[in-house]
Amino acid sequence: MLKDSWGRKITYLRISVTDRCNFRCVYCMPPEGLVWQPHSAIMSYEEIAELVRVAAAQGVKRVRLTGGEPLVRADLPLLIRMLADIPGIEDLSLTTNATLLERYAVELAQAGLNRVNISLDTLNAEKFAQITRGGSLERVIRGIDAAERAGLLPIKINAVAMRGINDDEFFDLARLTTDHPWHLRFIELMPLGNQKPWGPEFPSPQQAFISIQEIFDLLSPLGLVPEDGLAGSGPAIEYRLAGGLGKIGFISPLSEHTFCQRCNRLRLTADGYLRPCLMSNQEIPVLPTLRSGKSVLPVLQEAVAAKPESHKLATESAPEGRKMIQIGG
Ligand code: 5AD
Ligand code: SF4
Repeated sequence: MLKDSWGRKITYLRISVTDRCNFRCVYCMPPEGLVWQPHSAIMSYEEIAELVRVAAAQGVKRVRLTGGEPLVRADLPLLIRMLADIPGIEDLSLTTNATLLERYAVELAQAGLNRVNISLDTLNAEKFAQITRGGSLERVIRGIDAAERAGLLPIKINAVAMRGINDDEFFDLARLTTDHPWHLRFIELMPLGNQKPWGPEFPSPQQAFISIQEIFDLLSPLGLVPEDGLAGSGPAIEYRLAGGLGKIGFISPLSEHTFCQRCNRLRLTADGYLRPCLMSNQEIPVLPTLRSGKSVLPVLQEAVAAKPESHKLATESAPEGRKMIQIGG
């Protein structure tokens, strides 16, 4: 059992399989792009699976693959199959921008993937292309459709809330849950390596932040009905529109002060560092240990022990260092 210094059980591993992406979302990476990691620095599927085996034996039950965009890494279904075969892994999911889902959804489901989270901040094709710096909304919609048909359920949609960018669409996004059994989650914009201007068509990143409370108030005319129970097993507080098929969730890492108390996770970067907290630059290398053939259990335990009680964004400025694209959200 992996338990941190604050009594939290660590049962969830988020694994970034690549730092590359076929989009360049404004809040995720700088406009000039980034230097990709060379292949030799990236963990192999065997190395990832070995780490997950050790983690699963210690009570980790859920694994999520992230990126960059995980589907740009070759043969991702192969990794899915390897992880799905590990005893103790009950929930295997993927965070994706959905561009490649039309091609891969069936194969991923057959390999043992349970479900997907899809990033979608706007329903306006032009705005979508601006935010993602060139992405096609139509392709993403087809990707969502493919995921649904392949049974990668429930479909969760992540929308980063941004003032002056998509705040005129919160109603439309929320109303998607009337007719679709999707979980639409509004996420507060996190200041991770994205505080420089995004371009002339955008407000400043500082102005773009909207607190979840404000979004909630904006949506209240729709009549949000709280879902029973505390925030499920994840970070979202959940509601439903009366009679709606889906759910509406709010993820507020910045403005909700009890957010970190529910933290149950470790992150693994594509180049093999365990990251105890999304919002702290502290990282513990695990790849050298894996490559030397020694047990990684002590490294896992060290990373769990290094988890801070909460992030320090209220009192300290956001960490420079890895950008969101290099961590995977
Ligand atoms: N703030 C909040 N969410 C972000 N994501 C990426 N960058 C940020 C940010 N700065 C989200 C994406 C995706 C997930 C991986 O993280 O929308 O859904
Ligand atoms: Fe790529 Fe997702 Fe980052 Fe956008 S948010 S650049 S789709 S990794």
